[in-house]
Amino acid sequence: MIKVAPSLLSADFSCLEKEIIKVEAAGCDLLHIDVMDGHFVPNITIGPAVVKSIRRVTRLPLDVHLMIENPEDFVDSFIDAGSDMITVHIETLSALRLKALALRLKLDTKDIKLGISLNPATPLSRIIPVLKSVDFVLIMSVNPGFGGQSFIPAVLPKIKKLRKIFKKDIAVDGGINESTAKKVINAGANILAAGSYIFGARNIKLAIERIRNAGNSAD
Ligand code: DX5
Ligand code: ZN
Repeated sequence: MIKVAPSLLSADFSCLEKEIIKVEAAGCDLLHIDVMDGHFVPNITIGPAVVKSIRRVTRLPLDVHLMIENPEDFVDSFIDAGSDMITVHIETLSALRLKALALRLKLDTKDIKLGISLNPATPLSRIIPVLKSVDFVLIMSVNPGFGGQSFIPAVLPKIKKLRKIFKKDIAVDGGINESTAKKVINAGANILAAGSYIFGARNIKLAIERIRNAGNSAD
């Protein structure tokens, strides 16, 4: 089953509730929320207060992508705000720290799914030691920081290699459209985050369906 996660970064923030209702009605599976701190990435977006407000207007699972330094310091605020899935970047913490975070979340029994993400230039070997501690992996297919960038095809072998050794969810984020969706699904990904392709579409329902079914289409 392919899941589609619209990235709110490409939504109109002046009417976020409307935008969320639109993608929810169009049949998306999750909401992808990009959190940036201006340090790990050269952009600043939203914090826990906004996630809390989003939580009030939708029942969709909130998939919060933390592109921030010292993610452990903020995980609790994002969980309290109503996140269901939290992703941290391997470039921001050691394997040891990630394992400690995973253990802490498990002990808290709040049923939060923890994901690990890696940038296009970061080799798969960096996340191998933590694969047992996470519920999913988020493969970045653009350099994080901005929506609307072009998909980097060099990440496809990474997805294929990971799929061979990792049975849980593999998400891909960055430059996803109908044609790149097909490539990443065929490589083994099953959660697709997409911002500009979905929010920029005339027919959002169709855009979501095109991503979801991209793996079934002939070349
Ligand atoms: C990039 C973000 C992505 C981004 C995707 O730093 O993590 O989630 O919003 O946007 P598109 O689909 O437009 O590349
Ligand atoms: Zn993201």
